[in-house]
Amino acid sequence: MSILITGGTGYIGSHCAVELLKNNFEVVLLDNLSNSTEAVCKHLYKICGKKPNFYRGNINNEEVLDYIFKCFDIKAVIHCAGLKAVGESVLKPIEYHENNVEGTKSLLSVMQKHDVYKLIFSSSASVYGNPEYHPIDEMHPLNPLNPYASSKVKIEEILKKLSIENSKWKILSLRYFNPIGAHDSYLLGDDPTGQPNNLFPFIMKVAMGEREELEIFGNDYNTPDGTGIRDYIHIMDLVDGHISSMLYLEKMEASLNYENINLGAGRGYSVLEVLDSFETVNNLKIPYRFTERREGDVDNSYANISKAKVKLDWMPKRTIEDMCTSAWSFQKKKILV
Ligand SMILES: NC(=O)c1ccc[n+]([C@@H]2O[C@H](COP(=O)([O-])OP(=O)(O)OC[C@H]3O[C@@H](n4cnc5c(N)ncnc54)[C@H](O)[C@@H]3O)[C@@H](O)[C@H]2O)c1
Repeated sequence: MSILITGGTGYIGSHCAVELLKNNFEVVLLDNLSNSTEAVCKHLYKICGKKPNFYRGNINNEEVLDYIFKCFDIKAVIHCAGLKAVGESVLKPIEYHENNVEGTKSLLSVMQKHDVYKLIFSSSASVYGNPEYHPIDEMHPLNPLNPYASSKVKIEEILKKLSIENSKWKILSLRYFNPIGAHDSYLLGDDPTGQPNNLFPFIMKVAMGEREELEIFGNDYNTPDGTGIRDYIHIMDLVDGHISSMLYLEKMEASLNYENINLGAGRGYSVLEVLDSFETVNNLKIPYRFTERREGDVDNSYANISKAKVKLDWMPKRTIEDMCTSAWSFQKKKILV
């Protein structure tokens, strides 16, 4: 039985691939390499001794999708492909809509044509916008603040509607908080080819000497130390959440065939707390300076993960220290390889 992972050479897709390959699934990766490289396949082979089937292509291209579904006995799709830079989405809203929303529609139409109805969609905590309460549960109102987040909300709406129209669909939208860290082999990690836009890739650049200091956007937030608080989750905990989701799809009832589920650690850390952890576990100093707040950034955002615990029988296990050690170990290994 094969699982198709769109965006399969990207950060989250590649880490899902490793666990699926280890669990003897046949894995097919589709990626247009807009934010990753094919070298990931080589690393997957090194880690698992098995090659994923890789196709370079676009999810908007129904011919490529059709070809893949004809060649493989695809049972389910993990749909990670998407553009994800919030700032870029403000500059290129149409591109984000075309790529993320229209691309998803193409995927869904080809899945339907081939009678494949199980889907795990990479959604995002950004759908909640400025939190009205904490911890944020799945009932929290949606308030996307940029075209990236809007694309996720639109896709969720499409998926929900589809599931109502046809009870064969079994769909989970996993709303990720902030995945960080790397696979234990340190051959895979967060390795974007484009401009990084999250805290960790920036910390890495300073740790590697590529930037002089870390810019911390704002120290006047309504938090104990004034810096923004986010929910960070180890990438391998996030992947475990996908494996549990695959099992959950098998037992989803026709009457409840679409669900949104938060995947986070269930607690928040401020930027200064993360930095302190990173410096301590890795014995490094990261110079930083405070700059203006970034537009759209919120004080505090962390997840209520009760639904994932109950429905998926899943619990994140790794600590912030594990995340910091793992992220830096990947970077160091990357320099050597
Ligand atoms: N990493 C995060 O912090 C985070 C948080 C919340 C949600 N997400 C979502 O999870 C998904 C995966 O994120 P990631 O961190 O692995 O990002 P990533 O950029 O590392 O991976 C996405 C992959 O999709 C590919 N891609 C983009 N558009 C494509 C298209 N049209 N056709 C084929 N391939 C395409 C890119 O080349 C990339 O390899 C994204 O949809 C993202 O929005 C990520």
